[in-house]
Amino acid sequence: MDFYVFMLMGANILLIFSGFSNSIAADTITQSQSISEGRTLVSKDGSFELGFFSPGGSSDYRYLGIWYKNIPVRTVVWVANRHKPIKDLSGALMINNRSKNLVLLSQNTSVVVWSANSTKEASSPIAQLLDDGNLVLRDGKDENPENYLWQSFDYPCDTLLPGMKLGWDLKKGLDRRLSAWKNMDDPSPGDFTWGIQLTNYPEAVMWKGSEKFYRSGPWNGLRFSGAPELKANPVFEFKFVSNENEVFYTYQLINKSVITRMVMNQTNYSRQRFIWIEADSRWSPYASVPRDNCDSYNLCGAYGNCIIGESPVCQCLKGFRSKSPETWNPEEWSQGCVRTTQLSCQDEDTTDGFIKFSGLKLPDTTNSWVNRSMNLKECRIKCLSNCSCMAYTNSDIRGEGSGCAIWYGDLIDIRQIQGGQDLYIRMPASELEGGEHKRMVVIVIYVVASAIVSGMLVIAYFICRSRTKFREKMESNVRIDQSIEEGKEDLELPLFDLATIANATNNFSIDNKLGEGGFGVVYRGTLEDGQQIAVKRLSRSSGQGLNEFKNEVILIAKLQHRNLVRLLGFSIQGEEKMLIYEYMTNKSLDFFIFDQAKGKVLDWSKRFNIICGLARGLLYLHEDSRLRIIHRDLKASNVLLDSEMNPKISDFGMAKTFGGDQTEGNTNRVVGTYGYMAPEYAIDGLFSVKSDVFSFGILLLEIVSGKKNRGFHNPDHSLNLIGHAWKLWQEGRPLELIDTCLEDSCTASQILHCIHVSLLCVQLHPEDRPSMSSVVMMLASESSLPEPKEPGFILGKNSLKLDQFSSTNEITVTRLEAR
Ligand SMILES: *[C@@H]1O[C@H](CO)[C@@H](O)[C@H](O)[C@H]1NC(C)=O
Ligand SMILES: *[C@@H]1O[C@H](CO)[C@@H](O)[C@H](O)[C@H]1NC(C)=O
Ligand SMILES: *[C@@H]1O[C@H](CO)[C@@H](O)[C@H](O)[C@H]1NC(C)=O
Ligand SMILES: *[C@@H]1O[C@H](CO)[C@@H](O)[C@H](O)[C@H]1NC(C)=O
Ligand SMILES: *[C@@H]1O[C@H](CO)[C@@H](O)[C@H](O)[C@H]1NC(C)=O
Ligand SMILES: *[C@@H]1O[C@H](CO)[C@@H](O)[C@H](O)[C@H]1NC(C)=O
Ligand SMILES: *[C@@H]1O[C@H](CO)[C@@H](O)[C@H](O)[C@H]1NC(C)=O
Ligand SMILES: *[C@@H]1O[C@H](CO)[C@@H](O)[C@H](O)[C@H]1NC(C)=O
Repeated sequence: MDFYVFMLMGANILLIFSGFSNSIAADTITQSQSISEGRTLVSKDGSFELGFFSPGGSSDYRYLGIWYKNIPVRTVVWVANRHKPIKDLSGALMINNRSKNLVLLSQNTSVVVWSANSTKEASSPIAQLLDDGNLVLRDGKDENPENYLWQSFDYPCDTLLPGMKLGWDLKKGLDRRLSAWKNMDDPSPGDFTWGIQLTNYPEAVMWKGSEKFYRSGPWNGLRFSGAPELKANPVFEFKFVSNENEVFYTYQLINKSVITRMVMNQTNYSRQRFIWIEADSRWSPYASVPRDNCDSYNLCGAYGNCIIGESPVCQCLKGFRSKSPETWNPEEWSQGCVRTTQLSCQDEDTTDGFIKFSGLKLPDTTNSWVNRSMNLKECRIKCLSNCSCMAYTNSDIRGEGSGCAIWYGDLIDIRQIQGGQDLYIRMPASELEGGEHKRMVVIVIYVVASAIVSGMLVIAYFICRSRTKFREKMESNVRIDQSIEEGKEDLELPLFDLATIANATNNFSIDNKLGEGGFGVVYRGTLEDGQQIAVKRLSRSSGQGLNEFKNEVILIAKLQHRNLVRLLGFSIQGEEKMLIYEYMTNKSLDFFIFDQAKGKVLDWSKRFNIICGLARGLLYLHEDSRLRIIHRDLKASNVLLDSEMNPKISDFGMAKTFGGDQTEGNTNRVVGTYGYMAPEYAIDGLFSVKSDVFSFGILLLEIVSGKKNRGFHNPDHSLNLIGHAWKLWQEGRPLELIDTCLEDSCTASQILHCIHVSLLCVQLHPEDRPSMSSVVMMLASESSLPEPKEPGFILGKNSLKLDQFSSTNEITVTRLEAR
């Protein structure tokens, strides 16, 4: 269908580009064949094509390259003779009869302009263009077709395709590095390159010439330390391999029909990932580095910490001062910082210690040392034993953390980053005393505060208990100890026994089922005293251990807000783990707003009340609760309504903890629901409070319009609800968005204001979106607002390739919705 159109378009372009006459639809050449002007190789599945082309405007220079066959925008992913163009139309790719190697010949001049350098000779060599875009040379007689004598994937140009390896084959001495084209018209290697730097603690590095330009930070078991946006996502899986034979990074598509690539661009010194958007016939850019000023290599010098949002962005780490305080200006930053007090390493009487810094991108690993079987204590001792050791940390942050990484000499290229890591930096004893003293004060305050909090909880619990006769329902109270940074904190929460819950839910009867998600089933139940509850029975496969579950319970128990659904207790018996919530009589928001008849129950004033309640609940999660919590799955079905139609956000925190722990085994899961997910989260797994703001914006549009963002249809265009709202906004008729059943009850200016706020929330770039505190303020007054920029994900079904994952991924989160 569409493919046919593309073929036609592709053919047209080829005609224009190279005087194309007829294509041999073969993917292979043998010794007696060659590829010359006007002929191409096409991979078996038709994805890639190899042939001659001229880049940009020029047509004098001819290159042999590989490009996507089935997309209409000519996108070259590999070039053979990038150093040496052929200046006429006499080029031919063939297999040399003597050396059995792949050569590119300029026939007119009889010059070999390029050759593959396989060292092994094959008796009957063939060259084949594979479906992943790899051009390989192999022996046609070899039974194993994957025994490549040579492959183009080992000699990348500016593009990293799925399946390509970035990094080293140590056995062959092969360093697979990407290098940008000099410019759009010249594919010869520019000075902007990207590869893996082989240190004891390897990391990916971008160079501008011979200078480092950007470091990703070392691989910490989950991701590169300085690239926390690399997360499990529905588009691709990634891995980093480091052993005595190989050190490389690679990624693979999860759905083979998505087209994505990473490309180095010297025009503005950036590396971008693109995804092909079929409906628009364009490459859509996502994640690119450098992301900001702090990504510039060593901007702040030794012991300087680059913090976006600070002025100046370069700040000395605690215990250090600027080397040249008078000239602390951008040009001088790289001078860095020096210690306020010298280390006492050599001194017999005093010893150094360490201060823990958190949220950092780990420093340059050039002078590092790693032992993967040491623990943190041994690591500390190891570091302390050598005066030039300046810092240590776990080399692998999976689980509780393991392994030991040590830095010798100055620490450079440190930055503050969301999702950053701990680093223990060596300090003289004098600095530590101050530090320790302060820490003691913090601990004291903390202990007092938590004693008060626990006291209040205990009181609240007793009041609650006497009121609702929880006494009979409870077997016992368990004390849960949660180890936190500096001390222990106790908390009491009702523990229900399994029999009570089984009884309340009629033995988990299917009739009592309220909903189901990837983490288990939700049941409605009635306790003996008549109180209604909602029971979330976590599936055994949720992979949560006992401690994680307890921490989860403590986390949720600490959240107290009238717009968050309340946890009443929990139950653990063997493998069986359950959370017991208050039951909401009016089910969930989606039950009302997407139904013409039931929608009338919620008039505009009720809806506005819901909107404001949601905003406050989310603000509490983001900023006001003691813990910063990113909900990650805000949607209409997760908004429960009490008897007075007050909104209560449910499933808070669950997604975060579950998702966070499920990095192994279930890496393909992005927790959340398509249609509500912000683009940077859905595609790059990058989540922040701003991705929640995006979901809130969608919810706002849905409440105003009574339409679902996903599954939105309009006969006039293929846009989704966001796209539709954006279109109406730009055309100056936003009020046409309003749900017809609201027409009598609404205040036009207020509803218009809400649409405006929602469009600010769904802007493409997270940094443009307001924070929840701004949203709450915006909703409270009808003062003027900034003009929204283009929103993210405006295309509807069939257009954005990501939509195809919806059906498989929607189930990753439990929904408390009614049926
Ligand atoms: C290479 O050998 C094949 C047969 O093995 C022959 O058909 C072809 O013409 C030869 N090519 C050249 C350039 O000599
Ligand atoms: C070979 O070179 C001659 C003279 O420079 C030129 O006229 C001819 O077009 C060239 N052949 C091809 C195939 O480019
Ligand atoms: C193989 O060719 C590449 C360029 O295509 C070159 O950089 C490399 O050094 C060559 N390797 C050997 C072993 O000749
Ligand atoms: C590089 O970036 C420039 C603009 O900054 C853009 O015009 C060009 O198409 C990009 N090149 C590639 C190969 O993506
Ligand atoms: C230039 O690079 C940045 C990343 O550094 C990227 O976000 C931007 O889109 C690029 N500009 C153009 C015009 O492509
Ligand atoms: C790494 O640490 C382990 C455990 O402490 C030790 O047995 C081993 O010798 C260390 N390896 C190196 C190379 O230091
Ligand atoms: C400390 O470590 C450095 C770097 O590895 C090394 O050169 C030096 O010899 C070590 N010093 C001692 C006393 O072990
Ligand atoms: C992959 O994408 C295609 C269309 O692009 C879709 O038909 C298919 O269902 C998708 N497969 C999965 C497993 O999502």
